[in-house]
Amino acid sequence: MNNENIIEIRELKKSFENGTIKALDGINLEIKRGEYVSIIGPSGSGKSTLLNMIGALDRANEGEIKVAGYDLSKMRDLNRFRSQEIGFIFQLHNLIPNITVLENVEIPMYEINYSSKEMRKRAMELLEYVELLDKMKRKPTALSGGERQRVAIARALANNPSIILADEPTGSLDSRTGQMILQRLKSLHEKENVTLIMVTHDMNVASMAERTIEVLDGKIVQN
Ligand SMILES: Nc1ncnc2c1ncn2[C@@H]1O[C@H](COP(=O)(O)OP(=O)(O)O)[C@@H](O)[C@H]1O
Ligand SMILES: [Mg+2]
Repeated sequence: MNNENIIEIRELKKSFENGTIKALDGINLEIKRGEYVSIIGPSGSGKSTLLNMIGALDRANEGEIKVAGYDLSKMRDLNRFRSQEIGFIFQLHNLIPNITVLENVEIPMYEINYSSKEMRKRAMELLEYVELLDKMKRKPTALSGGERQRVAIARALANNPSIILADEPTGSLDSRTGQMILQRLKSLHEKENVTLIMVTHDMNVASMAERTIEVLDGKIVQN
C-alpha cells in the first residue's frame, strides 16, 4: 500500500437481492490521507453503498478494499477498525432520541478505553466545538435540524477518527444551516488533517472539495 493513500480500492463489487442488483460494479479508487473528496452521482448509483464499504458497515462480494492500513476484505472483526478510524455522519443524524445530547456524543467512546470521567470531558469539549454545550442536557427531539446535525458531527469526532464519511449531511437542512455544517467539516479537514469524504447531490457543495468523484451505475466515471 502506498503510504500516502489512506484508501485503496480495486475492482470492488457489491450486489443485493441474490446478485440481481449490482450496486457496485468494479470500483477502483485511491484517496490520499488528509484529502477532501466529494462523491456525486444520481440517486441509486451506488454512492451510499460505496461509503458503507469504506466504513465497513457492510462487506463487499468481490475485490480489494484497504483503509487506513486495514485489509477490510480479509478481516473478520471490523468493529475495532470502525471504532478507531471512522466517523460517520448521515443525512438524518441518527441520534438516539431518548438519551441526552451529551450521552449521544459519548457513545462512540464506549468502544475505546476511556473512563467515564474522560468520556464526559471529551464529549463536553466536542459540544463546545460545535457550539452546543449549553444544550448538552437536552434530548435530540428538543433541537432544531441544524443543531442535531452539529451533535452528529460532535459524535462523529468522539473517537478521533482519521476518516470522516458524510452521506448527504446537509440534505435535510435549509441552505444557511447547511453552509454552517459544511464550514465546520471543512475546517476539520484543514486544521486536523482529517480525510473527509462527502456524498452530495448538490454541485455547489461538491465544488468545495479538492476532488470530485462521479459514480454512475456502480462505476466511477470521472476521478
Ligand atoms: N440493503 C439493500 N438491499 C437491496 N438493495 C439495495 C440495498 N442498498 C442499496 N441497494 C440498491 O443498490 C443500488 C445503489 O444504492 P445506493 O448505494 O443507496 O445509491 P445512492 O446512495 O447513490 O442513491 C440501488 O439500486 C439500491 O436500490
Ligand atoms: Mg445514498
